[in-house]
Amino acid sequence: MADHRTAAARRPLISGNWKMNFNHFEAIQFVQKLSYLLGKDDLGEVDVSIHPPFTDIRSVQTVIDADKLQFALGAQHCHFDDTGALTGEVAPVFLAKLGVKYVIAGHSERRELFGETDEMVAKKVAAIQRHAMTPIMCVGETLDEREAGQTETKVLGQVHAGLTGRTAEQVASMVIAYEPIWAIGTGRTATSDDAQLVCAAIRAAVAAQFGAASAGALRIQYGGSVKAGTIAELIAQHDVDGALVGGASLDPDEFARIAKLGR
Ligand code: PGA
Repeated sequence: MADHRTAAARRPLISGNWKMNFNHFEAIQFVQKLSYLLGKDDLGEVDVSIHPPFTDIRSVQTVIDADKLQFALGAQHCHFDDTGALTGEVAPVFLAKLGVKYVIAGHSERRELFGETDEMVAKKVAAIQRHAMTPIMCVGETLDEREAGQTETKVLGQVHAGLTGRTAEQVASMVIAYEPIWAIGTGRTATSDDAQLVCAAIRAAVAAQFGAASAGALRIQYGGSVKAGTIAELIAQHDVDGALVGGASLDPDEFARIAKLGR
């Protein structure tokens, strides 16, 4: 089958979502270790982003800059306003100033535990792009929804809602992460066929709404208990362009293996 994706979309993006793990000292040690494990050859073929907690970002940025590392700096979350009386929130413009490239929006943990709605996710996606960063917009179904045969309805509904107000060009430069909620942190992974099916459905829905060029340029990650032992089969799927890795991104050896095998 002819590959309908652009060269940029075919270059995998492996993202490590540390969630609420590692203080800034631990973060610096991790990045230094990872830099020994992943060489220029590896990073010539795969993009690797690291998403530490907010309190670590400045430290990680300093290491990346000082050692000229090729890792992209990421964040796990942000607010959609640039400023305001919003105690505890972090504005996307602050992240942009720190050299953050990728920001996760609508992770299922944010949606389920912190009440993030589709509408908020759409505003975050817009705010992240307004500051010239790349959103990684997460979508995914619960086990109940999967068992009720509602996977596509749920996932495509979230895709549609999250892309509200975006132009074809803006969608083309985004990342969407398909993360079945029942596979996150559970050790259960969607089969590579299942992952492919849903990722292909996402690309088709984007093509229908924004055109084939946007759909071909968009990168789609799979996430949910990705490990070194499962990445190769996932990445070999036609519509899987990378992985959002949680638990396995906390071990530099395992994460480096995932990045190498994810090329
Ligand atoms: P997991 O997390 O790899 O631990 O399942 C993935 C994620 O939540 O992004």
